[in-house]
Parts: sequence; C-alpha cells; structure tokens
Amino acid sequence: MDQLKRQAAARALEEVRDGMQLGLGTGSTAKHFVELLGERVAAGLKVIGVPTSEATRADAERCGVPLTTLDAIDHLDITVDGADEIDPELNLIKGGGGALLREKIVAAASDRMIVIADDTKWVPTLGRFPLPIEVIPFGLGATSRAIEKAFAECGVSGQMAVRKAKDGHVFVTDGGHWIVDARLERIVDPASLARALSAIPGVVEHGLFIGLASSAVLAGGEGIRVIERRKPKGD
Ligand code: A5P
Repeated sequence: MDQLKRQAAARALEEVRDGMQLGLGTGSTAKHFVELLGERVAAGLKVIGVPTSEATRADAERCGVPLTTLDAIDHLDITVDGADEIDPELNLIKGGGGALLREKIVAAASDRMIVIADDTKWVPTLGRFPLPIEVIPFGLGATSRAIEKAFAECGVSGQMAVRKAKDGHVFVTDGGHWIVDARLERIVDPASLARALSAIPGVVEHGLFIGLASSAVLAGGEGIRVIERRKPKGD
C-alpha cells in the first residue's frame, strides 16, 4: 500500500515545474510527495511550499523544501494532497488526519489541486469514511443538535463522536478546535450537505471538499489512473 502511495506521489511530482508555489498536503500519501519533492529540491529544483499542518511543516523542513505562507504570496500553482475518499465527480472526504481546515484554505488558494491516493480511496458514493467536522468546543451541544438537523434536511443520519487522540484525550487540531466524526455511510448529496454544515455557527469547517480537486492520481495493482475533473474549479 505504501508503495502505491509513493507511486501516486511520484506521478504528481511530474506536474511540478521550476518556480512553482506549491500547497503541501497532510497524511501518509502527501508525506511521500514532500519527501520526493525534497529530493528534487536537493538536485536544484526551485519551488516554495505552504504546508497544510504542523506535521507537514516539520516534514518539509526535514526534507529541505523551502516554505512560505499565504500572507507572503498571493496564490499557489498546485496543491498536492491525499484524501480519505474520492467520488467520480472528484468530490472528497478529507480530514482523517485532522488537518482539514488548513487543507481547505490551501486548496482554495491554489490554481489546481491534485489528489494523490491508492485506489482503495475511490468510491461510488462518499460516506463510508466518517465525515470529520471541525467544531469550536464552546456550545458543542447546540452545535451538535444543529449538525443533526442539517443531516436530517440532507437525508443522512448516523452516529457522531468527538475524536480522541491516541492518549485518550480529546484530539485538538492545529487551529485549537475539536473534531466530530460522523458515520453517515452514504452521502447522497454532498454539495447540499457541505452548504448546510458551513452555515452552522459552531462549525469551523468540514471535510467535504466540493469542486476543489482538479485531478486525482490513483495508484493500484494495475498501474496509475489519472482522472481529470470535467467542470471548472469551484463548480
Ligand atoms: C489529513 O487531514 C487528511 O485530509 C489526509 O489528507 C487524508 O486523511 C489522507 O491521508 P492518508 O494519505 O494518510 O490516507
């Protein structure tokens, strides 16, 4: 599996040109991309990156990839990031690693987002992977009830749980928020659900990435498949 992730990362690296400003994703697949990019930088490639998490910042620094911020530059050429699920419209569930907020800010600031994954992430319908919803701890009861109402309006339901870290304490994101994971199984209309969740005051962000991915690089036992999004970015 790790080999497939690295192959997808290597294929995405072929899109990178000298002088590009890159969004650097988070997770085990994106980590391969950062490592391979570091090798190219060591060989003379000139790029600059914006990391989507403190973990990726540490990886990029270790690999010698120069970094900047979205305050210092006005756009990114390409973001390369992993995903937890990818559907045929290239809608995504992200946030399994807890970095969804910065990942979405960085993806939205990019001309193109290339999603890299092993082909087990490809699904006909999103929802098998629990949907991460980043919330403000204050008023979580009220926010949870509003989330349940949004689910009902969008024709989905399922158990929600505040994410715990490995040490048993509540998982805290890089932004200081909590994550609620919702087991929905089948999200029939991800765009409507995304809009409904975004309208809830205590929801900081959610893991539905709608219309952000430009292409997906899927590595499987039979080779690499590149799927291009048909609609323009944002649609
Ligand atoms: C991080 O918050 C996530 O969005 C990751 O991009 C996603 O979980 C994919 O991670 P892996 O590449 O480790 O499966």
